[in-house]
Amino acid sequence: MPDTIQITRPDDWHIHVRSGKILKTVVPHSARCFGRIMVMPNLMPPVCVSSRADEYRDEILAASAGSNHFNPLMSLYLTDNTSTEDVLAADKNPNIVGFKLYPAGATTNSDSGVTSVSRIMPVLETIASTGLVLQVHGEVTDPNVDVFDREAEFIDQVLKPLQREIPELRIVFEHITTRQGVEFVRSAGDNVGATITPQHLLFSRNDMFSGGIRPHYYCLPILKRHEHRLALLEAATGGDTSFFLGTDSAPHTKLSKESSCGCAGIYSAHAAIELYTEVFEAMDALDRLEAFASFHGADFYKLPRNTDKITLERIDWEVPKNYQVVGQKEKNPIVPLRAGESMRWRLLTEEH
Ligand code: DOR
Ligand code: ZN
Repeated sequence: MPDTIQITRPDDWHIHVRSGKILKTVVPHSARCFGRIMVMPNLMPPVCVSSRADEYRDEILAASAGSNHFNPLMSLYLTDNTSTEDVLAADKNPNIVGFKLYPAGATTNSDSGVTSVSRIMPVLETIASTGLVLQVHGEVTDPNVDVFDREAEFIDQVLKPLQREIPELRIVFEHITTRQGVEFVRSAGDNVGATITPQHLLFSRNDMFSGGIRPHYYCLPILKRHEHRLALLEAATGGDTSFFLGTDSAPHTKLSKESSCGCAGIYSAHAAIELYTEVFEAMDALDRLEAFASFHGADFYKLPRNTDKITLERIDWEVPKNYQVVGQKEKNPIVPLRAGESMRWRLLTEEH
Protein backbone atom coordinates (compact mmCIF):
# COMPACT_ATOMS: atom_id res chain seq x y z
CA MET A 1 0.00 0.00 0.00
CA PRO A 2 1.64 3.29 -1.09
CA ASP A 3 1.97 6.06 1.48
CA THR A 4 1.02 8.77 -0.98
CA ILE A 5 -1.18 9.01 -4.05
CA GLN A 6 -1.20 11.72 -6.66
CA ILE A 7 -4.23 12.69 -8.71
CA THR A 8 -5.16 15.52 -11.06
CA ARG A 9 -6.56 18.44 -9.05
CA PRO A 10 -10.24 17.66 -8.34
CA ASP A 11 -13.31 19.93 -8.62
CA ASP A 12 -16.29 20.12 -6.27
CA TRP A 13 -19.39 20.27 -8.47
CA HIS A 14 -21.84 21.17 -5.68
CA ILE A 15 -21.15 23.32 -2.63
CA HIS A 16 -22.72 25.96 -0.37
CA VAL A 17 -20.40 28.66 0.95
CA ARG A 18 -22.98 31.18 2.29
CA SER A 19 -21.79 34.80 2.67
CA GLY A 20 -20.07 37.14 5.16
CA LYS A 21 -18.24 35.59 8.12
CA ILE A 22 -19.23 32.00 7.35
CA LEU A 23 -18.02 32.38 3.77
CA LYS A 24 -14.67 33.69 5.04
CA THR A 25 -14.42 30.65 7.33
CA VAL A 26 -15.26 27.94 4.82
CA VAL A 27 -13.87 29.10 1.45
CA PRO A 28 -10.20 28.49 2.44
CA HIS A 29 -11.07 24.85 3.17
CA SER A 30 -12.20 24.34 -0.44
CA ALA A 31 -9.48 26.54 -1.95
CA ARG A 32 -6.71 24.42 -0.36
CA CYS A 33 -7.74 21.51 -2.56
CA PHE A 34 -10.21 22.11 -5.37
CA GLY A 35 -9.78 23.76 -8.75
CA ARG A 36 -13.37 24.64 -9.59
CA ILE A 37 -16.18 24.76 -7.07
CA MET A 38 -19.78 24.90 -8.28
CA VAL A 39 -21.35 27.44 -5.95
CA MET A 40 -25.02 27.00 -5.07
CA PRO A 41 -27.15 30.17 -5.15
CA ASN A 42 -29.50 29.61 -2.16
CA LEU A 43 -28.57 32.73 -0.23
CA MET A 44 -31.17 34.97 1.38
CA PRO A 45 -32.11 36.62 -0.96
CA PRO A 46 -31.13 34.08 -3.63
CA VAL A 47 -28.64 34.74 -6.42
CA CYS A 48 -30.97 35.01 -9.42
CA VAL A 49 -29.24 37.21 -12.00
CA SER A 50 -25.87 37.42 -13.69
CA SER A 51 -24.74 40.72 -12.11
CA ARG A 52 -25.42 39.41 -8.59
CA ALA A 53 -23.45 36.23 -9.36
CA ASP A 54 -20.46 38.42 -10.32
CA GLU A 55 -20.56 40.23 -6.96
CA TYR A 56 -20.94 36.96 -5.09
CA ARG A 57 -18.03 35.40 -6.98
CA ASP A 58 -15.84 38.40 -6.08
CA GLU A 59 -16.67 37.88 -2.40
CA ILE A 60 -15.64 34.20 -2.68
CA LEU A 61 -12.41 34.99 -4.52
CA ALA A 62 -11.50 37.62 -1.90
CA ALA A 63 -11.77 34.93 0.80
CA SER A 64 -9.57 32.46 -1.07
CA ALA A 65 -6.36 34.33 -0.24
CA GLY A 66 -5.01 34.40 -3.76
CA SER A 67 -4.98 30.66 -4.32
CA ASN A 68 -4.11 30.59 -8.02
CA HIS A 69 -5.70 27.23 -8.87
CA PHE A 70 -9.10 28.16 -7.40
CA ASN A 71 -12.00 29.07 -9.68
CA PRO A 72 -15.56 29.46 -8.36
CA LEU A 73 -18.22 28.73 -10.97
CA MET A 74 -21.67 30.10 -10.40
CA SER A 75 -25.21 28.80 -10.60
CA LEU A 76 -28.32 30.98 -10.73
CA TYR A 77 -31.46 30.26 -8.72
CA LEU A 78 -34.56 29.53 -10.78
CA THR A 79 -37.84 31.03 -9.64
CA ASP A 80 -41.29 31.14 -11.20
CA ASN A 81 -40.27 34.61 -12.42
CA THR A 82 -36.97 33.77 -14.13
CA SER A 83 -37.15 35.09 -17.69
CA THR A 84 -35.62 33.87 -20.93
CA GLU A 85 -33.66 37.17 -20.93
CA ASP A 86 -32.13 36.18 -17.56
CA VAL A 87 -30.98 32.93 -19.18
CA LEU A 88 -29.51 34.66 -22.22
CA ALA A 89 -27.63 37.14 -19.98
CA ALA A 90 -26.27 34.25 -17.89
CA ASP A 91 -25.12 32.49 -21.03
CA LYS A 92 -22.91 35.51 -21.86
CA ASN A 93 -21.20 35.30 -18.44
CA PRO A 94 -18.36 32.74 -18.63
CA ASN A 95 -18.44 32.20 -14.86
CA ILE A 96 -22.07 31.00 -14.88
CA VAL A 97 -22.50 27.41 -15.97
CA GLY A 98 -25.90 26.41 -14.66
CA PHE A 99 -29.31 27.15 -13.23
CA LYS A 100 -30.42 25.49 -10.00
CA LEU A 101 -33.92 24.14 -9.73
CA TYR A 102 -35.18 24.02 -6.16
CA PRO A 103 -38.74 22.81 -5.86
CA ALA A 104 -40.28 25.50 -3.61
CA GLY A 105 -40.01 24.44 0.02
CA ALA A 106 -37.80 21.39 -0.61
CA THR A 107 -34.83 22.48 1.51
CA THR A 108 -32.80 25.31 3.11
CA ASN A 109 -33.63 28.71 1.53
CA SER A 110 -35.82 27.22 -1.17
CA ASP A 111 -38.94 29.31 -0.46
CA SER A 112 -38.47 31.31 -3.67
CA GLY A 113 -38.01 28.12 -5.68
CA VAL A 114 -40.12 26.81 -8.53
CA THR A 115 -43.71 25.90 -7.64
CA SER A 116 -44.26 23.76 -10.75
CA VAL A 117 -41.86 22.79 -13.53
CA SER A 118 -44.66 23.18 -16.08
CA ARG A 119 -44.68 26.95 -15.33
CA ILE A 120 -41.08 27.44 -16.44
CA MET A 121 -40.96 25.31 -19.60
CA PRO A 122 -39.97 28.24 -21.91
CA VAL A 123 -37.08 29.05 -19.56
CA LEU A 124 -35.97 25.40 -19.49
CA GLU A 125 -36.11 25.28 -23.29
CA THR A 126 -33.89 28.36 -23.42
CA ILE A 127 -31.47 26.77 -20.95
CA ALA A 128 -31.33 23.73 -23.23
CA SER A 129 -30.72 25.85 -26.32
CA THR A 130 -27.81 27.72 -24.70
CA GLY A 131 -26.09 24.55 -23.50
CA LEU A 132 -26.18 25.73 -19.88
CA VAL A 133 -26.82 22.95 -17.37
CA LEU A 134 -29.93 22.46 -15.23
CA GLN A 135 -28.90 21.44 -11.72
CA VAL A 136 -31.78 19.77 -9.91
CA HIS A 137 -32.62 19.27 -6.26
CA GLY A 138 -34.66 16.16 -6.93
CA GLU A 139 -37.27 15.80 -4.20
CA VAL A 140 -41.03 16.26 -4.31
CA THR A 141 -42.36 18.59 -1.64
CA ASP A 142 -45.77 17.01 -1.06
CA PRO A 143 -45.98 16.64 2.73
CA ASN A 144 -47.97 13.45 2.24
CA VAL A 145 -45.00 11.76 0.58
CA ASP A 146 -42.71 10.07 3.08
CA VAL A 147 -39.43 11.99 3.43
CA PHE A 148 -37.47 8.85 2.53
CA ASP A 149 -39.44 8.44 -0.74
CA ARG A 150 -39.25 12.00 -2.04
CA GLU A 151 -36.35 11.43 -4.42
CA ALA A 152 -37.82 8.30 -6.00
CA GLU A 153 -41.16 10.09 -6.47
CA PHE A 154 -39.45 13.06 -8.07
CA ILE A 155 -37.90 10.83 -10.73
CA ASP A 156 -41.30 9.55 -11.83
CA GLN A 157 -43.27 12.77 -11.39
CA VAL A 158 -40.78 15.30 -12.72
CA LEU A 159 -37.50 14.04 -14.18
CA LYS A 160 -38.79 11.38 -16.56
CA PRO A 161 -41.50 13.63 -18.06
CA LEU A 162 -39.03 16.53 -18.30
CA GLN A 163 -36.52 14.38 -20.15
CA ARG A 164 -39.20 13.21 -22.55
CA GLU A 165 -40.28 16.81 -23.16
CA ILE A 166 -36.80 18.35 -23.60
CA PRO A 167 -34.36 15.50 -24.30
CA GLU A 168 -31.57 17.92 -25.26
CA LEU A 169 -31.66 19.59 -21.81
CA ARG A 170 -28.46 18.75 -19.91
CA ILE A 171 -29.31 17.87 -16.32
CA VAL A 172 -27.23 17.24 -13.22
CA PHE A 173 -29.31 15.28 -10.74
CA GLU A 174 -27.68 16.72 -7.61
CA HIS A 175 -26.67 14.69 -4.56
CA ILE A 176 -28.43 11.48 -5.47
CA THR A 177 -29.23 9.25 -2.52
CA THR A 178 -31.13 6.22 -3.80
CA ARG A 179 -30.85 3.11 -5.93
CA GLN A 180 -33.66 4.57 -8.07
CA GLY A 181 -31.54 7.70 -8.60
CA VAL A 182 -28.58 5.60 -9.73
CA GLU A 183 -30.77 3.55 -12.06
CA PHE A 184 -32.38 6.63 -13.58
CA VAL A 185 -29.02 8.27 -14.29
CA ARG A 186 -27.61 5.08 -15.81
CA SER A 187 -30.58 4.75 -18.14
CA ALA A 188 -30.98 8.42 -19.07
CA GLY A 189 -28.23 8.82 -21.64
CA ASP A 190 -25.38 11.31 -22.01
CA ASN A 191 -27.38 14.42 -21.12
CA VAL A 192 -27.90 13.38 -17.49
CA GLY A 193 -25.18 13.22 -14.84
CA ALA A 194 -25.22 13.15 -11.04
CA THR A 195 -23.21 14.33 -8.08
CA ILE A 196 -22.67 12.10 -5.05
CA THR A 197 -21.79 13.44 -1.59
CA PRO A 198 -19.35 11.91 0.90
CA GLN A 199 -22.05 11.52 3.55
CA HIS A 200 -24.30 9.44 1.32
CA LEU A 201 -21.35 7.16 0.54
CA LEU A 202 -20.26 6.84 4.16
CA PHE A 203 -23.49 6.67 6.13
CA SER A 204 -27.00 5.32 6.11
CA ARG A 205 -30.04 6.52 8.04
CA ASN A 206 -29.13 4.36 11.03
CA ASP A 207 -26.17 6.67 11.66
CA MET A 208 -28.58 9.55 12.21
CA PHE A 209 -30.13 7.68 15.14
CA SER A 210 -27.25 5.76 16.64
CA GLY A 211 -27.61 6.04 20.43
CA GLY A 212 -29.82 9.15 20.08
CA ILE A 213 -30.73 11.75 17.47
CA ARG A 214 -27.63 13.14 15.76
CA PRO A 215 -28.36 16.48 14.12
CA HIS A 216 -24.96 16.69 12.41
CA TYR A 217 -25.98 13.76 10.21
CA TYR A 218 -29.13 15.52 9.05
CA CYS A 219 -29.11 16.79 5.48
CA LEU A 220 -31.51 16.87 2.53
CA PRO A 221 -32.02 14.63 0.73
CA ILE A 222 -31.96 12.68 3.99
CA LEU A 223 -29.66 9.67 4.51
CA LYS A 224 -31.35 6.50 3.26
CA ARG A 225 -31.28 2.76 3.95
CA HIS A 226 -28.06 0.77 3.68
CA GLU A 227 -29.11 -0.82 0.36
CA HIS A 228 -29.21 2.65 -1.24
CA ARG A 229 -25.76 3.42 0.10
CA LEU A 230 -24.48 0.26 -1.57
CA ALA A 231 -25.94 1.39 -4.92
CA LEU A 232 -24.23 4.78 -4.54
CA LEU A 233 -20.90 3.15 -3.67
CA GLU A 234 -21.10 1.03 -6.80
CA ALA A 235 -22.02 4.09 -8.91
CA ALA A 236 -19.23 6.30 -7.55
CA THR A 237 -16.43 3.75 -7.57
CA GLY A 238 -17.47 1.66 -10.60
CA GLY A 239 -16.02 3.98 -13.24
CA ASP A 240 -19.31 5.12 -14.85
CA THR A 241 -18.65 8.60 -16.30
CA SER A 242 -22.13 9.87 -15.35
CA PHE A 243 -21.22 10.15 -11.65
CA PHE A 244 -18.95 12.77 -10.16
CA LEU A 245 -17.81 14.52 -7.01
CA GLY A 246 -20.09 17.12 -5.40
CA THR A 247 -19.83 17.46 -1.65
CA ASP A 248 -22.98 19.46 -0.91
CA SER A 249 -20.91 20.83 1.97
CA ALA A 250 -23.47 23.05 3.72
CA PRO A 251 -22.25 24.96 6.78
CA HIS A 252 -24.68 25.85 9.54
CA THR A 253 -23.64 26.98 13.00
CA LYS A 254 -23.74 24.60 15.97
CA LEU A 255 -26.75 26.36 17.51
CA SER A 256 -28.78 26.18 14.31
CA LYS A 257 -28.05 22.44 14.01
CA GLU A 258 -28.43 21.50 17.70
CA SER A 259 -31.91 22.93 18.04
CA SER A 260 -35.53 21.82 18.44
CA CYS A 261 -35.86 22.41 14.68
CA GLY A 262 -32.35 21.91 13.35
CA CYS A 263 -31.23 22.98 9.87
CA ALA A 264 -30.44 20.48 7.11
CA GLY A 265 -26.84 20.42 5.97
CA ILE A 266 -23.55 18.64 6.67
CA TYR A 267 -20.24 20.50 6.64
CA SER A 268 -17.54 18.51 4.85
CA ALA A 269 -15.32 20.98 2.99
CA HIS A 270 -12.57 20.76 5.66
CA ALA A 271 -11.83 17.15 4.65
CA ALA A 272 -13.70 16.62 1.40
CA ILE A 273 -11.13 14.86 -0.76
CA GLU A 274 -9.88 12.89 2.24
CA LEU A 275 -13.38 11.54 2.93
CA TYR A 276 -13.84 10.43 -0.68
CA THR A 277 -10.37 8.85 -0.64
CA GLU A 278 -11.36 6.74 2.35
CA VAL A 279 -14.45 5.58 0.52
CA PHE A 280 -12.51 4.57 -2.58
CA GLU A 281 -9.85 2.83 -0.47
CA ALA A 282 -12.49 0.84 1.41
CA MET A 283 -13.96 -0.23 -1.95
CA ASP A 284 -10.50 -1.21 -3.21
CA ALA A 285 -10.95 1.35 -5.98
CA LEU A 286 -8.26 3.97 -5.30
CA ASP A 287 -7.31 3.73 -8.97
CA ARG A 288 -10.76 5.13 -9.89
CA LEU A 289 -10.71 8.10 -7.50
CA GLU A 290 -9.10 10.45 -10.00
CA ALA A 291 -11.72 9.94 -12.72
CA PHE A 292 -14.61 10.46 -10.29
CA ALA A 293 -13.02 13.46 -8.56
CA SER A 294 -11.23 15.19 -11.43
CA PHE A 295 -12.46 14.05 -14.87
CA HIS A 296 -16.14 13.08 -15.05
CA GLY A 297 -17.51 16.42 -13.83
CA ALA A 298 -15.33 18.56 -16.07
CA ASP A 299 -16.21 16.35 -19.04
CA PHE A 300 -19.95 16.60 -18.32
CA TYR A 301 -19.74 20.40 -18.08
CA LYS A 302 -17.64 20.42 -21.29
CA LEU A 303 -14.84 22.27 -19.51
CA PRO A 304 -11.15 21.42 -19.68
CA ARG A 305 -9.81 19.00 -17.09
CA ASN A 306 -7.38 20.50 -14.58
CA THR A 307 -3.75 19.85 -15.41
CA ASP A 308 -1.96 20.25 -12.07
CA LYS A 309 -1.87 17.57 -9.37
CA ILE A 310 -2.56 17.11 -5.69
CA THR A 311 -0.95 14.61 -3.37
CA LEU A 312 -2.68 12.69 -0.60
CA GLU A 313 -0.67 11.18 2.21
CA ARG A 314 -1.75 8.14 4.24
CA ILE A 315 -1.42 9.42 7.79
CA ASP A 316 -3.79 9.49 10.77
CA TRP A 317 -4.98 12.91 11.89
CA GLU A 318 -7.82 14.19 14.02
CA VAL A 319 -10.59 16.44 12.70
CA PRO A 320 -11.09 19.50 14.96
CA LYS A 321 -14.19 19.37 17.18
CA ASN A 322 -15.31 22.61 15.58
CA TYR A 323 -14.25 25.57 13.45
CA GLN A 324 -14.65 29.00 15.02
CA VAL A 325 -16.41 31.39 12.63
CA VAL A 326 -13.95 34.07 11.48
CA GLY A 327 -14.57 37.44 13.18
CA GLN A 328 -17.45 36.12 15.33
CA LYS A 329 -17.52 37.17 18.98
CA GLU A 330 -20.02 34.69 20.37
CA LYS A 331 -19.12 30.99 20.61
CA ASN A 332 -21.21 29.46 17.87
CA PRO A 333 -18.83 27.46 15.66
CA ILE A 334 -19.35 25.13 12.71
CA VAL A 335 -19.22 21.45 13.66
CA PRO A 336 -17.59 19.53 10.80
CA LEU A 337 -18.28 15.98 9.65
CA ARG A 338 -16.15 13.54 11.70
CA ALA A 339 -15.63 16.18 14.43
CA GLY A 340 -13.05 14.93 16.93
CA GLU A 341 -12.60 11.66 15.03
CA SER A 342 -9.68 10.39 13.07
CA MET A 343 -9.04 10.39 9.32
CA ARG A 344 -6.72 8.08 7.36
CA TRP A 345 -5.72 10.38 4.50
CA ARG A 346 -4.55 13.96 4.38
CA LEU A 347 -4.02 16.37 1.53
CA LEU A 348 -0.38 17.39 1.37
CA THR A 349 -0.18 21.17 1.18
CA GLU A 350 2.75 23.57 1.31
CA GLU A 351 2.19 24.03 5.06
CA HIS A 352 2.69 20.34 5.92
O1 DOR B 1 -28.86 19.49 3.51
C1 DOR B 1 -28.94 20.41 2.71
N1 DOR B 1 -28.44 21.62 2.99
N2 DOR B 1 -29.56 20.21 1.55
C2 DOR B 1 -29.80 21.20 0.69
O2 DOR B 1 -30.37 20.96 -0.33
C3 DOR B 1 -29.42 22.60 1.03
C4 DOR B 1 -28.34 22.64 1.99
C5 DOR B 1 -28.15 23.99 2.63
O3 DOR B 1 -28.12 24.99 1.90
O4 DOR B 1 -27.99 24.05 3.84
ZN1 ZN C 1 -26.86 21.55 -1.95
